[in-house]
Amino acid sequence: MKAASVSDYRELARRRLPHIFFEYIDGGSYAEETLRRNVADLEAIALRQLVMRDTTKLDMTVQTLGQTLKMPVGLAPVGMAGMYARRGETQAARAAAAAGVPFCLSTVGVCSVEEVAATGAPPWFQLYMLKDRGYMRELLQRAKAVGSPVLVFTVDLPTPGSRYRDIRSGFSGAGPLRAALTQAWDGITHPGWTWDVFVHGRPHTLGSVQGAVTEGRRVTDFLAWIAKNFDRSVTWKDMDWVRETWDGPIVVKGVLDPEDARDAVRAGAQGLVVSNHGGRQLDGVKSSISALPRIAQAVGGDVEVYMDGGVRSGLDVLKALALGAKACFVGRPWAWALGAGGQPAVEKMLDVLRAELAVAMILTGCTDVRNAGRSLLDEG
Ligand code: FNR
Repeated sequence: MKAASVSDYRELARRRLPHIFFEYIDGGSYAEETLRRNVADLEAIALRQLVMRDTTKLDMTVQTLGQTLKMPVGLAPVGMAGMYARRGETQAARAAAAAGVPFCLSTVGVCSVEEVAATGAPPWFQLYMLKDRGYMRELLQRAKAVGSPVLVFTVDLPTPGSRYRDIRSGFSGAGPLRAALTQAWDGITHPGWTWDVFVHGRPHTLGSVQGAVTEGRRVTDFLAWIAKNFDRSVTWKDMDWVRETWDGPIVVKGVLDPEDARDAVRAGAQGLVVSNHGGRQLDGVKSSISALPRIAQAVGGDVEVYMDGGVRSGLDVLKALALGAKACFVGRPWAWALGAGGQPAVEKMLDVLRAELAVAMILTGCTDVRNAGRSLLDEG
């Protein structure tokens, strides 16, 4: 199948990836209500069809936090991408660099921040606050040393939400025997992945944090260790520590409420990602797109407001910009594309988003993404 849309990459990833990894990427927490809302609420927004405008020239570039983005899209941090394709984080980082958009490296990436930076494009670095503050300090220094320009501090995961699909698939909570059998069966039934990732994609560790992990050998053991070591004591006061440790722009990711948004600004954030972690945390909370307008109104004048969650097309990107985002991030879309076909597929997926955004701009008469506002929406 030739992929025409983001959802086609989902189907290709479903065929190529071992079941446990596809389910890990695809799933949300509990009944997946918020995951569905993220997508459905974006779908439900109507753009205005505005005709007879001169749209010969389109400008999609945005300046943000000292960066120039060739389009208002970035790759959100996604854990363990090196299990979806060989050294997956480096492939995705190259694809993002080719498209002129930021790649955000997860704390729990298979490739370390050094390995990704060696591609020539230092990633934005995403921080999960773990209990070992000494190690966290070192990690931020490492990210800074390799030239990461922006720190993305994820605040919506003091503990992971329960993901039923991961329990059912045996990804989490399985004993060693079941885990070994699942892995063997997945290997036999997905030979392309086995050759690419299982054989040639080693080591399968969590590159940036492996020095801190004290238990386990498999990547899923590492993840279980991390889950026990998230620091739930963190408050806005700890932003002082982050700001002292990180000399550069800080984006707080995982805010869904204007009150938290105002606190993040007071605590010294330069940017916010309106996000519910792609519906993987507190199920039942509102969609990111429905939370966006009030947050943009509350703090949009003070910080850069981005959003993620449910963006599946360039049309969705324009809708998010119209409701106050400076740019949006995509998580599953790039993880699916990576699983489907590595760097070339991520590049094509970004091409698809760019082409769709261009058509959406032309057909709404919007020639410059910086001017996208509510006038592009049919709210009648
Ligand atoms: C994530 N997300 C995430 N966020 C983060 O800050 N650190 C991380 O390590 C991860 N890991 C992760 C793994 C997988 C498989 C997914 C799907 C998501 C959340 C991610 O950054 C983003 O908020 C959502 O993915 C956005 O929603 P969509 O685009 O997937 O709908």
